[in-house]
Amino acid sequence: IPTLREINIREKRVFMRIDINVPIDPDKGEILDDRRIRVHSQTIKEVVEKYRPALVLGSHQGRPGEPDFITLEKHAELLSKYTGYNVKFVDDVIGPTARKAIQELKPGEILLLDNLRLVSEEIIEATPEKQSYTIFVRRLAPLFDAYVNDAFATAHRSQPSIVGFPLVLPSAAGPLFEKEIMALRRVVESFESPRIFVLGGTKVRDLLRVIENLVRNKMADRILTTGLLAQLFLVAKGIGLGKENMRYLEEKGILPLIPRARYILLMGAPIETPIDFKVLIDGETRNVGIGEINGKIMDIGEQTIRIYSEFIKDAKIVVMRGPAGVIEDERFRDGTVKLLEAAYNSKAFVLIGGGHLSSMIDESKLNEHIHVSTGGNALLLFLSGETLPALKALELSAKMFLS
Ligand code: 3PG
Repeated sequence: IPTLREINIREKRVFMRIDINVPIDPDKGEILDDRRIRVHSQTIKEVVEKYRPALVLGSHQGRPGEPDFITLEKHAELLSKYTGYNVKFVDDVIGPTARKAIQELKPGEILLLDNLRLVSEEIIEATPEKQSYTIFVRRLAPLFDAYVNDAFATAHRSQPSIVGFPLVLPSAAGPLFEKEIMALRRVVESFESPRIFVLGGTKVRDLLRVIENLVRNKMADRILTTGLLAQLFLVAKGIGLGKENMRYLEEKGILPLIPRARYILLMGAPIETPIDFKVLIDGETRNVGIGEINGKIMDIGEQTIRIYSEFIKDAKIVVMRGPAGVIEDERFRDGTVKLLEAAYNSKAFVLIGGGHLSSMIDESKLNEHIHVSTGGNALLLFLSGETLPALKALELSAKMFLS
């Protein structure tokens, strides 16, 4: 893939896609963990110091309709704090206010556009060719000399800001994107067994895609499920979770995924499911076995933590994605914290996927055997052998502009 060594961005007008999509407190709308913003700040600084471009940054935050879909003023403040530069903010994406701010930006200055998903085209997935004709790309591309993709964590989305610009501007992967790919290639090349994948969180549809790849390419010896993913597989196996949890799964659009989960089980996927949970019932927390679930499931239970930790201890490779429980509530962090601890203490090479899980990392326990990626499902899809749309678009761009 083309990198910043292959295109010229010195003092040029550059649009850089980053991913500062971070966990947000659903009640207060505040940023709960700013790790992605800190990591991106380093590379933004590097790029500005080395090339002095007029640098326009774009990112999404959450998805329309979800509580974490907010504007990016606070992100801009944190970018200013961590880069030491004044990162300007404009509350517009492709309209006249944004275009004026972009045009007025001088070399060495940085501007953050508002949440890219305020533009409806940005949530539609389509081919790079199609995305290069969107109004989004047609409005912004003429204002730039080059496009840089440093949003490894969104590399699995085929959206205009990821795959559209590379077809109309000389483009390259940014320093963080490059670093992530290098780290992951090292892991893929030395894939020893047993390989344990610990998968949780709420993005269940994406996780099923990951599991299908893992099974097809025989990459996982065990898949330890937690979070909503675990609940889906339990239901797929015919285990009752009680009315409250079934209603929640329905609300989240997860029930239609049951046939797909059953098919995955029939394919012989090495899926492990929890044997107990921590539930919330009448304001009280309780540890219950899967045969006796009453109340809302909030975390994996104590016995499950013990068994999963044993598997992790003996692994050669551990890949973790998504929290095991509702970590926004302190009472339900145990599962996530203890599985992470098992991973720090194991002799395995550990890859930790970004997003909500990285907010639970104890930075003092990190060592050279642990890679914390900014990518969540992008990381898993890359590892499981899928071609990421962002990489494909950059390759196409190289053929068009660099050969
Ligand atoms: C992520 O956190 O996985 C990325 O920011 C992508 O977010 P999305 O799943 O809403 O596209």
